[in-house]
Amino acid sequence: MNIIHLSAECYPVAKAGGLADVVGSLPKYMRNNDVDAKVVMPKYATEWVQEHEFETIFEGDTPLGEGQFHYKIQREKEDSLGFPLYLVDIPERFDRPGIYIDPYSGHGYWDELERYLSFQLASLDWLHYSEEDPDLLHCHDHHTALVPFIITRCYRYRGMENIPTVLTVHNAEYQGEYDREVYSLLPSFNLSEVGLLDWDGKFNCLAAGIKCCWKITTVSPSYMEELSQNGDLSLLYHAERHKSVGILNGIDTEVWNPKTDPYLEKNYTLKTHRKSKLENKEALCDQFDLNPEYPLISYIGRLAREKGADLLPDLFSHFLGSEQSVNFMLLGTGDRGLHERFRQMNSRFVGFFDAALDYNESLAHLIYAASDFIIMPSRVEPCGLNQMYSMRYGTVPIVRKVGGLKDTVKDIGEEDGYGITFYDFTHHAAADAIQRSLSLYEDSKGMNSVRKTIMRLDFSWKTSANKYLELYRELIND
Ligand code: GLC
Repeated sequence: MNIIHLSAECYPVAKAGGLADVVGSLPKYMRNNDVDAKVVMPKYATEWVQEHEFETIFEGDTPLGEGQFHYKIQREKEDSLGFPLYLVDIPERFDRPGIYIDPYSGHGYWDELERYLSFQLASLDWLHYSEEDPDLLHCHDHHTALVPFIITRCYRYRGMENIPTVLTVHNAEYQGEYDREVYSLLPSFNLSEVGLLDWDGKFNCLAAGIKCCWKITTVSPSYMEELSQNGDLSLLYHAERHKSVGILNGIDTEVWNPKTDPYLEKNYTLKTHRKSKLENKEALCDQFDLNPEYPLISYIGRLAREKGADLLPDLFSHFLGSEQSVNFMLLGTGDRGLHERFRQMNSRFVGFFDAALDYNESLAHLIYAASDFIIMPSRVEPCGLNQMYSMRYGTVPIVRKVGGLKDTVKDIGEEDGYGITFYDFTHHAAADAIQRSLSLYEDSKGMNSVRKTIMRLDFSWKTSANKYLELYRELIND
């Protein structure tokens, strides 16, 4: 089966969030199942791209609105990711350092639609006019969600209309919404179909993908339900339920393995975790001037509203200002107002709190290993990978019961539970969850048993890769 993933991100080539982790690992685990899975993505000017060698295998010109542009398809020479990687080189659109955000201005790029549309058109041109012959196109999020419309409606791609398409929604908060008129950038199609591109009076890439793809998947079953119950596209999700399924993400257990992880101070296994986790904690605490004798609760991730990061300053300050012995650590970037608040807390709570306002993959690994708890107070969480990384490292998750968090973490109050959960998005509910974590920490026997339980859980791609495989087979044989 020749499966083509089209994505704006792929770890380690270019990463902004969990989308990259999934696209960088699922194809690898699918290949073990006799699937020939490949990834096609834009050629950004990232460090990884600059350090690797590529070979141009195809080039051409294709229309965009009134004009046209030149593109090259380049394959990574070594297949160093464990699957073939193809970069779409479109000079002046992608040879920039930021993926979505211009690092100089802190804002999104002015030509966002042109960027993602030209990426999709160039990829489809190549697939259409070369020998590639895909069996299925797997699109991810709004950046590639126009593909199902384009191949079934635009005359230029006639002949591709019978290729099955899967659209995976990793994050429905971003939809790729523009003024209606932008449809004229697309290659020509029968204008009576223009309504397929529309949602609520706007040109909406995600909505178009949902309407036109063969199958919609979300990255957890609960998120699928939530999407059809609330949110601005809920009616659409509801209407398309017959072709929708939630498949929980897996994690790359080669990259995320405490036994071999090169970023840890001390590697460990289930047997040695007790002593070695402490060594990692001591190393981290030393680096950030924290006290390794106190329980350490950490947050890793984007400082964004959907992640509930705005709850953290008051929540952490509440405990830091109390008599309780606890340390907090934070790693992430995002909302500038939150940066400011965390900076103030850095100087106010020296020795008890540290915020690294940065994107730092290696530090993230050490924090997972060194912390006692990881907190995720998300407003929305399509799947969430951090809770799974943390459990694999024996670090207990404190999570809000939404989306994928609900599907992966069972509260210690329930039978066979192993995490701390709360439901209401309030300071009170989150503080209560932290209080319960501190009590668990006090009970060293209980804590140790929870750690062992979570380290034994299997979050690998095994089960989910099989579900995707079944889905591909069903669509291809249809
Ligand atoms: C997005 C979602 C996150 C999910 C990831 C991978 O980043 O916010 O919940 O785990 O995509 O699917």
